[in-house]
Amino acid sequence: MTQVLDLEEISFERGAHLLVQRALQGLNPGDELGVTGLAPDLVVHLDAWCRHAGHRIRRAERADPQDARAWVIRGRADLDRWSGAERSGGPKADEILRNPPLHWGLAARGSLVEPGGSELGFDLADRDCVWADIAPSLYASAASAQWDPATAVAWDAEAGLPDEIERAVVQVMTYLIENEMAALVIPSRLLARIHPHFREVLQLLAVQAADEARHVEIFTRRAQLKGCEMGTSAVGGRESLATLVNEPDFSLASFLLSVLGEGSFLNLLTFIDRNAPDPVTRQVARLARQDEARHVAFGVAHLQHQATVDTTLRTRLRAAVERRHDVLLDTAGLNQDVFDSLVTLAAGEWTPQAIGRGYDQVQKLRAEMDEGRQHRLIRLGFPADEAAEISALHTRNFM
Ligand SMILES: [Fe+2]
Ligand SMILES: [Fe+2]
Repeated sequence: MTQVLDLEEISFERGAHLLVQRALQGLNPGDELGVTGLAPDLVVHLDAWCRHAGHRIRRAERADPQDARAWVIRGRADLDRWSGAERSGGPKADEILRNPPLHWGLAARGSLVEPGGSELGFDLADRDCVWADIAPSLYASAASAQWDPATAVAWDAEAGLPDEIERAVVQVMTYLIENEMAALVIPSRLLARIHPHFREVLQLLAVQAADEARHVEIFTRRAQLKGCEMGTSAVGGRESLATLVNEPDFSLASFLLSVLGEGSFLNLLTFIDRNAPDPVTRQVARLARQDEARHVAFGVAHLQHQATVDTTLRTRLRAAVERRHDVLLDTAGLNQDVFDSLVTLAAGEWTPQAIGRGYDQVQKLRAEMDEGRQHRLIRLGFPADEAAEISALHTRNFM
């Protein structure tokens, strides 16, 4: 049965092709569709569109049974175009492929991908090298837990600290900012290398980077609260962070940064919270700690996942810690100014007894960090004695 589509006054300059296309969908190649309408250049425009879309056209003749201005003979180019297309997995997390091809590029997961096109340079394209089943739910909780630095901290809380205590706070903040900057740069770099098929991991790392951006902000604001000069940045600390920033392997970077470094920072932030001489310092430490717990959780979950498919992983993790330890052997590790400031904060006053107590508190902090690292290493499947050995080789810079 022949069909005639009446476009009425709609021209090809105002979307007529949508109506023609829709009418052609139900036809087989070779079938004819009559087209009529009031637009003056209708046939000229229909002709041009048909050539572009792979259909043919014939002018209406007197003998035609219906009142069409032209006839479109359905081609098959639009059918052929999608014949080699493939579904890029599915939108849900359990529809993720292990090795998505690079030519899928940035296509939405689950979309019908036309063949061809150039390959983008996502070199982290193996699911097991980046994935953790916890990623989607961790992303959701990270997105809902975003706080506003302007209102989450009572910036005007009264805190008339003695100069030396204020300087100790500023030194600790200066150190934190430098380390937070490493924690911002590393996931951001990794993110840009991950195949977009693993969308939830990219999203999680993006929120993680946003977390670190806020940490940099609140620590900077606390440092500048009383107009003090910023503290010092030592070579030892920077060398330690450089070994993190330069680690190209996703799993090793995630291990060194999130499991060992941010893991140790959980203890450090608890220490600062406990020994803070003013409410703002306490609040900024507490806010950052909440986020860090998620960063550590993803690192641990990812490596647990990878350990199930890669029997060499633990050997490589251990080797990474040893390699980093050797590179940093001749460096000072933790900036002495930072160490002294932590002691000062824990001491709270300048009596020999208080300084002694402060020193003991910092030693206790180091022991807690070590214990935490060992605990997480055991969760990754290391035997207890090996966990203790690896933890002991961790950088003295904490991060
Ligand atoms: Fe952070
Ligand atoms: Fe972090």
